[in-house]
Amino acid sequence: MGTEEQGGQKTAGKVEQAKGKLGVMVVGLGAVATTMIAGVEAVRRGLAKPIGSLTQMGTIRLGKRTDNKSPLIKDFVPLADLNDLVFTGWDIFTDNVYESAAHAKVLDEKTLEQLKPYLETIKPLPAVFDQYYVKRLNGTHVKKGKNKRDLANQVKADIQAFKKTVDRVVMIWCASTEIFIAPAAVHQSIEAFEKGLDNDDIAIAPSQIYAYAALTEGVPFANGAPNLTVDTPAMIELSKRNAAPICGKDFKTGQTFMKTVLAPALKARMLGVSGWFSTNILGNRDGEVLDDPQSFKTKEESKLGSLDYIFQPELYPDLYKDLYHKIRINYYPPRGDDKEAWDNIDIFGWLGYPMQIKVNFLCRDSILAAPIALDLVLFLDLAKRAPSLRSLGIQEWLSFYLKSPQTAAGLYPEHDLFIQSMKLKNTLRHIMGADLITHLGLEYYD
Ligand SMILES: NC(=O)c1ccc[n+]([C@@H]2O[C@H](COP(=O)([O-])OP(=O)(O)OC[C@H]3O[C@@H](n4cnc5c(N)ncnc54)[C@H](O)[C@@H]3O)[C@@H](O)[C@H]2O)c1
Repeated sequence: MGTEEQGGQKTAGKVEQAKGKLGVMVVGLGAVATTMIAGVEAVRRGLAKPIGSLTQMGTIRLGKRTDNKSPLIKDFVPLADLNDLVFTGWDIFTDNVYESAAHAKVLDEKTLEQLKPYLETIKPLPAVFDQYYVKRLNGTHVKKGKNKRDLANQVKADIQAFKKTVDRVVMIWCASTEIFIAPAAVHQSIEAFEKGLDNDDIAIAPSQIYAYAALTEGVPFANGAPNLTVDTPAMIELSKRNAAPICGKDFKTGQTFMKTVLAPALKARMLGVSGWFSTNILGNRDGEVLDDPQSFKTKEESKLGSLDYIFQPELYPDLYKDLYHKIRINYYPPRGDDKEAWDNIDIFGWLGYPMQIKVNFLCRDSILAAPIALDLVLFLDLAKRAPSLRSLGIQEWLSFYLKSPQTAAGLYPEHDLFIQSMKLKNTLRHIMGADLITHLGLEYYD
């Protein structure tokens, strides 16, 4: 199929160039956020390489395999340059980014000292916070308002003030995991949501207030945590109406990243799975927050989804109907940000003979999450400048980065990392008017 039929440049429209400064508003200046900001500065100064970032290091094949044309993604699509990023953010503590990064202990002292003069300049704005939604935290650097509408207006005022200093703005949630909130009547339409803001509806958590403020200001919003936030009809509508792209939730970093690589492989070979036990120990503030059963439930729901969707037990009952999937996260302070994850996978093969796979991932949580946060920021800004993407609301092509992909109503989410990767790259080809790559390849044998 040719470019035009598949939606190439003619149908996709021309992507606007990334001119001027991109303002990045980060909700929650904790471990992930400070690792991202410090990392960007380290890369800008030539002190380190942006490893783990597809936007900075990835290439994209164009045309046939024999064409030998694989430019860097950042040379193919007009992304904001790292030198044009300007950071600000909110937190419930007054620590500047240097102090917060030092507290998080992800990056070593030597690196932080080199970056200190810059990191110290980024100071958090007072946050929208209520301990009801994050039981294990209590901060004082918090906005006061007569109701949730008032708080949303204060966030909007923060955005408007920041907009005066930069050319474009993106917001990303890198704050704590909130308690589990089920979608309610208040989430079903913009009108119901706005009424809920006036009435201080309990089903409106702080993350939704930030998201509402961003989307009403036409600012794309990414959600690094598993909170409900923009996964509601009201927010999807707002996103479309104001051409403010959104994507799924919860950075796909360690264990789920591995799961969405291994599970598709087992399924591709029609190997059965009877059990998948996943456990984690971690000792950072995120681990402390997740030690609260209500925040853990939000995370658990997000982590549980992937296997069911990948294995499709209704299509393959002989292989996956009885799969027992269990996830545990244990707060264990000595490990800090260095999470350790174990997976025990009970599989079975030919004639039902059982086998086991053990995965032991000694990872660094924020080192894995920071490049994902950066890529989401850069790609959401790109989506906002791409005529064929900006008013779609959900950017399903960014599922690649997220534990809980968001989809159009009635569509099941695609969790397979390699399908997600293909979808992402084909979306980039599409918006730039290049031929999509189907991997059919019959033409090489003509
Ligand atoms: N690191 C990973 O691998 C990973 C993966 C997936 C998701 N996440 C999620 O990313 C988020 C950040 O993780 P982290 O390790 O940086 O946690 P963290 O605890 O170090 O940082 C979170 C920060 O958010 C602040 N905060 C909490 N509520 C706030 C609010 N309402 N407004 C403004 N600030 C607020 C906290 O004070 C804290 O500084 C968590 O929700 C975590 O579950 C992390």
